[in-house]
Amino acid sequence: MLELIRTRRVIRSMTDKPVKRAHLEKVLEAGRWAPCGGNHRLLRFVAIQNPVTLRLMRKVSPGMSQRPAAAIVLCIDWDQVKVHKIPAHDRAISIDVGTAMENMMLAAHSIKLGSGPVTSFSKEALRVVLNIPQNLSPEVIICIGHAAPKDQMIMIPKKKVTWQSLTDWERYAG
Ligand SMILES: Cc1cc2nc3c(=O)[nH]c(=O)nc-3n(C[C@H](O)[C@H](O)[C@H](O)COP(=O)(O)O)c2cc1C
Repeated sequence: MLELIRTRRVIRSMTDKPVKRAHLEKVLEAGRWAPCGGNHRLLRFVAIQNPVTLRLMRKVSPGMSQRPAAAIVLCIDWDQVKVHKIPAHDRAISIDVGTAMENMMLAAHSIKLGSGPVTSFSKEALRVVLNIPQNLSPEVIICIGHAAPKDQMIMIPKKKVTWQSLTDWERYAG
């Protein structure tokens, strides 16, 4: 598991090789098993493999530069937020998006698929393309596909980041 966590990288360039439906299902299953606040399951997933739909999605998602063979859109179901009487500003709601996203990206990596999250898209236009109703808000697109042999456009941090550089023990030391 640690090795998978360490070696997963965001893939920003993909081949046009199709993603098997069974593989996409594995990734979706990993999203289902992500931890979520109160076990409320506020998320809905829209999985896309149709090339025409993917092309339309790209038209409204400037961040979707990798031309993926598949994608999963993670949406918050605001009706469920109300049903469970969760305040709209409760940070667990967006944390849920993050846990599902990471589970899915790690699952993709474990079956040798590349993935990359995209947050730069028009929510309203994506709603139209994917028939997403008003009670759902699309939060992130996870692009999924086979990494191009010469990927990478890695965003290099200005300073080297290690777990030690991120951690203080017992009390924050500044
Ligand atoms: C909430 C969130 C939003 C992101 N949005 C984008 C995005 O729109 N486009 C993109 O190329 N990468 C996006 N990323 C990926 C980050 O840039 C990437 O995780 C970071 O540079 C570290 O690279 P690594 O995951 O390969 O280690 C996003 C990551 C997160 C967690």
